Amino acid sequence: MTRIWNVGILGPGKIANRFADSFKHVPEAKVYAIASRDENKAKEFAAAHNVEKYYTSYEQLVKDPAVDLIYIATPHPFHYEQSLLCLNHGKAVLCEKPLALNLRQATEIVAAAKKTKTFFMEGMWSRFFPTIHKTIDLLKSGAIGEIKSLHADFGFSGPVNLEGRLYNMALGGGAQLDVGVYPMFFALLVLGKPDEIKAFSQLASTGADTTTQALFKYKSGAIAHILSSIVADSPKDAHIMGTLGRITVQTPWHKSEKVTLRLNSGETTEFAFPHSGNGFEFQLQHVVRCLEAGETESDEMPHSLSLMMAEVSDEIRRQGGVKYAVD
Ligand SMILES: NC(=O)c1ccc[n+]([C@@H]2O[C@H](COP(=O)([O-])OP(=O)(O)OC[C@H]3O[C@@H](n4cnc5c(N)ncnc54)[C@H](OP(=O)(O)O)[C@@H]3O)[C@@H](O)[C@H]2O)c1
Repeated sequence: MTRIWNVGILGPGKIANRFADSFKHVPEAKVYAIASRDENKAKEFAAAHNVEKYYTSYEQLVKDPAVDLIYIATPHPFHYEQSLLCLNHGKAVLCEKPLALNLRQATEIVAAAKKTKTFFMEGMWSRFFPTIHKTIDLLKSGAIGEIKSLHADFGFSGPVNLEGRLYNMALGGGAQLDVGVYPMFFALLVLGKPDEIKAFSQLASTGADTTTQALFKYKSGAIAHILSSIVADSPKDAHIMGTLGRITVQTPWHKSEKVTLRLNSGETTEFAFPHSGNGFEFQLQHVVRCLEAGETESDEMPHSLSLMMAEVSDEIRRQGGVKYAVD
């Protein structure tokens, strides 16, 4: 009989609800427990998602021997402490992006995962969409030749609440850590660590970056341009341009259902991968496969990529003048 993996959710907020909705597409896992500091919220979430257990502290969740994996779904400043809490109790962790506020915290989390030999993965859900797999396959096959340029963006115009998590520095406010991590991830996945970075940010009165743009330069000559914003809606495009043609991950690229390959001859091929769920099922299926195989690290979203993302984010924030108390 197939094993069912018991998932505990830490922090029943906006993203936790979307994550929980994806379980209907992954029968090998179930939301077994929910933990919130607020009993009513825990009860409501448990009722809405048919969850067996609810806890009113995160400590109770990590101590439940029946929990196999914990999904950390709180704002970024809490990821560090909560990841360590889970790992030190031997619980496998899927932690929402960004895994930490800076490289120092990220390095400590990865060290704890290695020391405790416990699975840890940053929840960069875009990594697991079939459109991203197809893009990587096309690049590996040499379909567009030598990469010359890459562009990816993720900007939206949200309500301004200086106390809320998008603007409040104590809650990890700012575009780079909220949505900038997506285009940055795409550039690093395709081209690797840049040899040179130039970054620019516009800041809110709280010190949070409202728009950030960066150029990554590579020894090969390739240049990547990334843009993120919490005040301006962007097309959410991703393009990779090469000597033989270009690949477009169609908007919204971070959860896309279509990839287009356009060769210099004009020949155009569209690859479609319609979703059956909200897209979180791809990441969840991957984590289940890692747990089934007894892995402590994902081969698709490895610790090294998370550490590279934290390092590059630190440099983008340094150049843009974005500083958290823990920096
Ligand atoms: N993958 C994606 O597409 C995606 C999309 C949006 C967000 N995210 C990521 O998911 C994370 C959570 O975002 P969200 O918008 O879902 O968060 P949220 O709804 O604001 O909060 C989620 C939970 O975090 C805890 N929390 C909130 N504010 C807190 C505070 N001031 N102090 C201590 N705990 C607090 C609460 O837990 P209690 O119930 O225990 O109080 C809350 O239920 C962020 O890191 C974000 O980057 C990912």
